Amino acid sequence: MKAIDATGLTFRQDYFDDPGAWAALVSLLDDTFGIDIDPLQQLGGPDPTSMPFGWFTDDGVLAANLSAFALPFVINGRTVNAAGLQSGAVRPPWRGRGLYRDVTRRALAWCESEGFEAIILYTDKPALYEPYGFRVLPLHRYQGKAPEPVETVAARSLSPRDAADLALLQDLLRSRMPVSETLAVTGNAAMFLINTELDREVRVSYLPAHRAVVAWKMPAPDHFCLVDIVAKEIPSLAVILGGLGIRPATVETLFRPDRLAWSGEAVPLEGGTRLMLRGLEGTSLDEPAMLSPMADF
Ligand SMILES: CC(C)(COP(=O)(O)OP(=O)(O)OC[C@H]1O[C@@H](n2cnc3c(N)ncnc32)[C@H](O)[C@@H]1OP(=O)(O)O)[C@@H](O)C(=O)NCCC(=O)NCCS
Repeated sequence: MKAIDATGLTFRQDYFDDPGAWAALVSLLDDTFGIDIDPLQQLGGPDPTSMPFGWFTDDGVLAANLSAFALPFVINGRTVNAAGLQSGAVRPPWRGRGLYRDVTRRALAWCESEGFEAIILYTDKPALYEPYGFRVLPLHRYQGKAPEPVETVAARSLSPRDAADLALLQDLLRSRMPVSETLAVTGNAAMFLINTELDREVRVSYLPAHRAVVAWKMPAPDHFCLVDIVAKEIPSLAVILGGLGIRPATVETLFRPDRLAWSGEAVPLEGGTRLMLRGLEGTSLDEPAMLSPMADF
């Protein structure tokens, strides 16, 4: 086994209850990816299933990190007891010493000991994870002509920072129906909530008659982009357009629209970030699909 150089560093895991260690992770992710995850503290807190693995300096700087968390998802109609890996980073002065290999091995060993059937992650460096048995899942979004809107009670805008709106969102996130049966997360409240902050173009609206939260964008005046739906029963696309009071010419969905009473054409997803899967050997998607970016982690 290759050696690691952890001179001057101390290993810690499961450290989210320590405010100093949390702040060190916020700083590592901000410096590495330019992403601020601190607002999670006002949005119900980090995912309670998180298990972070990190190497700290004596001054409390987090030099290397990788976090695992429970991320059950549906694939081809079956719910999989899966884990996700996120927040993988090593600060430049400590790179090339085997620290990432070390936290990767620890995270994988933890996932195995916890009995997860599969592990997924997003990365722009698939080669980093191929040696551990991860494989890339090709992803597709859908696009097509908009349906005629169906009239329903008007939607209202939700603000996850408002206490009552947050409680409503959390309630719906706990009991949501997967947005697609081909590929979708089943829960994952923390990621949905932080992603409402990280992508400022995403609007979050509530359709009271259907008790459904819709995450959506308008990239162009006549083009509607449906990012995610959080509800016990997924409303049709026509109802969603009616509730939002919009009449776009075209629609795209960032998940397979098998529950929307609408169909579009599958389009391969461009971009550098890939979804990788470990486990479920021999499984590939029965139909083109993608995980909603509201589950991005
Ligand atoms: C990618 C990163 C985590 C690697 O950290 P590191 O401390 O240099 O990694 P290690 O020294 O532990 O090397 C681990 C292995 O990954 C390989 N590796 C390192 N950087 C790599 C890269 N960019 N692409 C592919 N493989 C890479 C190493 O060769 C090593 O292979 P080995 O185990 O066969 O010896 C670090 O460069 C980083 O934080 N980059 C910015 C954030 C990032 O890209 N995070 C991960 C993507 S989700």
